[in-house]
Amino acid sequence: MEFGGKFIVIDGPDGSGKGTQLERLAELIEFHGGRCRRARDPGGTAIGDRIRHVLLGYDLSRMDPHCETLLFMASRAQLVAEVVRPALQAGQTVLCDRFISATCAYQGAAGMSREDIIALGRLAVGDTWPHLTIVLDLPPEVGFQRTGRKAHHARKNSMDRHAGQLSMFDDAKPDAMERRPLEFHRRVRQLFRELPAIYPAPVVIVDAGRDADSVWNDVKEAVRRATD
Ligand code: TMP
Repeated sequence: MEFGGKFIVIDGPDGSGKGTQLERLAELIEFHGGRCRRARDPGGTAIGDRIRHVLLGYDLSRMDPHCETLLFMASRAQLVAEVVRPALQAGQTVLCDRFISATCAYQGAAGMSREDIIALGRLAVGDTWPHLTIVLDLPPEVGFQRTGRKAHHARKNSMDRHAGQLSMFDDAKPDAMERRPLEFHRRVRQLFRELPAIYPAPVVIVDAGRDADSVWNDVKEAVRRATD
């Protein structure tokens, strides 16, 4: 496999095992003598981490979806300029946890058009799009069970109401995205599954509802096809 200068993204819902698969991929690449640069979106730079804090530490019900989308893109523009592009130019393989694919799914579910998101993406990252995006597909309920959060259907007259958003968790510190109701996360999943048809770069969907070794076999195969 020829990894040098390749940009690979793993995306999907929380609890889908992105971290585990990214780590295995990094080990494989390094085993073959490649050099890896790990990246995280949103964040991954000093400026991006501050934007991440605004996005995930506050009450998104008061934030306009356009503002939300532009902030994710702003963090990403910095990540690409400061980390991704220089690493690719130096012949490294960049392994990124989430990217524009996540905006298509999450902010798409929040009501933004995916065409607009992709147009903004072009503005933010130019032609630095991933050579491969792997989406780990999982029902949100399963993801929440795995991360230890208890998902439940939004309850209308609930005491859980968190500044206008219905909480879907029983534990203490969900981030702003996690506080959105189960229906939102179902829509996110649907939009992730539709990504191969609308994304301007290659996307492979992998069933993440299996054990980590089976998922890894599919991830490896997708990377092999993309890098051969
Ligand atoms: P993380 O936990 O994988 O770092 O992502 C933080 C949260 O932000 C996660 O719930 C997904 C969400 N998110 C978006 O809503 N839009 C985006 O563009 C990205 C990258 C993440």
